[in-house]
Amino acid sequence: MSVVLRPMVRDDVNAVAVMEEALFGAEAWSPEMLATEVTTDPVSRYYIVADDDGVIAGYGGLLAQRGGQADVLTLAVAGHRWGEGIGGALLDGLLTEAARRGCTEIFLEVRVDNDRAQRLYRRRGFIDIGIRRAYYQPSGTDALVMRLSQEPPAGKVLEPPARKKHLAGRHRGRRVK
Ligand SMILES: CC(C)(COP(=O)(O)OP(=O)(O)OC[C@H]1O[C@@H](n2cnc3c(N)ncnc32)[C@H](O)[C@@H]1OP(=O)(O)O)[C@@H](O)C(=O)NCCC(=O)NCCS
Repeated sequence: MSVVLRPMVRDDVNAVAVMEEALFGAEAWSPEMLATEVTTDPVSRYYIVADDDGVIAGYGGLLAQRGGQADVLTLAVAGHRWGEGIGGALLDGLLTEAARRGCTEIFLEVRVDNDRAQRLYRRRGFIDIGIRRAYYQPSGTDALVMRLSQEPPAGKVLEPPARKKHLAGRHRGRRVK
């Protein structure tokens, strides 16, 4: 595999938006939202792409405050590249960055009917912790909430945990009150 992981930049947004639309349909993030995510607040955000000789094969995003908890915001691989290990590599990249920032708990939401993604997360040690009803809109599909606890890097002194941010509109889908 000649794929390398690198930070997502503003110029990647159009290609990523095309993939978003193909993979997530009505629940896709808009190009504007992607651009905002990529260019705003690098202290809390971390977006990467899997770059195969200039062609983006997948991407992932993380919200991770230093010394706090982290959330996997998005993870996706182009349909014709599934099963090559790209999704796993992207997830590992996000988890490594979360650890580097001293985050010992990583959360995510995944559609209850997305067996493939859930299997990937379980293989990395995520466990089920709850259900958010009708989290994904407009379909009304429930989200499974998963959590991974990982050790802080050896020898690191953690800063006090940051309060979890309100994430409505940032995660894949929309939180429904
Ligand atoms: C979920 C997704 C990111 C996985 O990407 P991928 O590149 O296919 O992932 P990998 O090749 O690294 O495989 C990861 C895991 O998927 C599972 N998997 C692989 N092939 C599979 C298959 N044919 N059927 C079911 N699960 C399979 C395995 O558990 C694999 O783990 P392993 O490598 O330890 O065996 C990708 O399918 C995708 O983009 N789906 C649409 C978007 C999406 O659902 N994103 C998640 C939002 S929460």
